[in-house]
Amino acid sequence: MSVPTGSVLVKEGATEFFVPSVHSEKGPGKRVGRVFFNDQMAFNRDVTVMLLKAYPRARTALDAMSSTGARAVRIARESRPDISIVANDRDSEACEYITANAELTGSDNVEVSNDDLRCLLARRVFDYIDLDPFGTPVPFLPAVMQGLKRHGVAGVTATDTAPLAGTYPKKCLRRYGAVSMRSPFGHESGVRILIGHIAREAAKEDKGLECLLSFYADHYMRTYVRVVDGGGEADRTVGSLGYIHYDRVTGDRSVSLERDSPRSIGPLWLGPLHDAEVLDGMAAGENLQTRKRCARYLDTWKQELEVPFFYDNDELASLVRTSPRRLEDVLEALGASGRASRTHFSPTGIRTDLPLRDVLGIYASVREH
Ligand SMILES: C[S@@+](CC[C@H](N)C(=O)[O-])C[C@H]1O[C@@H](n2cnc3c(N)ncnc32)[C@H](O)[C@@H]1O
Repeated sequence: MSVPTGSVLVKEGATEFFVPSVHSEKGPGKRVGRVFFNDQMAFNRDVTVMLLKAYPRARTALDAMSSTGARAVRIARESRPDISIVANDRDSEACEYITANAELTGSDNVEVSNDDLRCLLARRVFDYIDLDPFGTPVPFLPAVMQGLKRHGVAGVTATDTAPLAGTYPKKCLRRYGAVSMRSPFGHESGVRILIGHIAREAAKEDKGLECLLSFYADHYMRTYVRVVDGGGEADRTVGSLGYIHYDRVTGDRSVSLERDSPRSIGPLWLGPLHDAEVLDGMAAGENLQTRKRCARYLDTWKQELEVPFFYDNDELASLVRTSPRRLEDVLEALGASGRASRTHFSPTGIRTDLPLRDVLGIYASVREH
């Protein structure tokens, strides 16, 4: 086996593989050397391992931007020895890593490909496609939508969180064709803008969309979506995209299918962010690199209400003109009149199906400790 020059052996989860000795330890994907590896994305890769383990319908997979092949060999070893994986990167030096790592891990089910993913996806189709670019996934989504088999799943990362969450609204409009705005729930609206954009790309291929799992973590947004073939499904999905009008003075968040004003955030996905059946099948196995974090997120995702757009504890306190109350006390008080949960988007976030007027009244009645 030829060991890549300048590489070091690391263990992530249950798998050993070579990565460049100089590589990113955290933060968004900045190229340190020519071949990219980021330690902090271990959680992102752990979630892929868990999800594909719980999703036996995927028999063929493409790690479209594989870099060192870390994700591909982890899928091969830790999720599914029965899955055929193509690990692709357009950089030939990255492919040296993929080849060495497939050999090192004895992953006979990993095929190395050195191509632009758009060329590869013009020729081949897959049940699962992983898209993990530097920055925005937008330029690659048409190819991914063409390359998904019937009921195929795409796992898509976006690290351009600032435009999506409303810090750079012009960039968001250019890239995603959607209005974004700073708000207490900016990361959630960003994830929903991303899914809304994927839905519109899917619709061009006469495909509708279902969301299996979507989240925000560290410096990125990530969604796993399943396509459902048919023009009717595409129409239904696009027809269910909508807008949120956020009033920062009153805290009101009104959701509608029509744009109420030029400042309405969207178009965005208003449907569920998680599929309960897929989540139920996922388990934070003891070999995962970030096992405790995976278990914590899984718990939160499972109990998180499917009500779009959460409130922030500090925001509610300021609307009621009081000091922030304990989150547990607020959740308990809201839960007595309606449904309420935490959200993975923010440690101080609160989801509830109660109208804002009731939320504020209940918040005002929660005693200070
Ligand atoms: C952020 S890195 C991927 C990291 C990897 N998925 C992981 O988990 O470690 C992005 C990779 O995409 C590759 N890439 C960029 N444009 C590409 C294209 N059009 N086709 C295929 N690969 C591409 C780059 O060479 C780089 O290795």
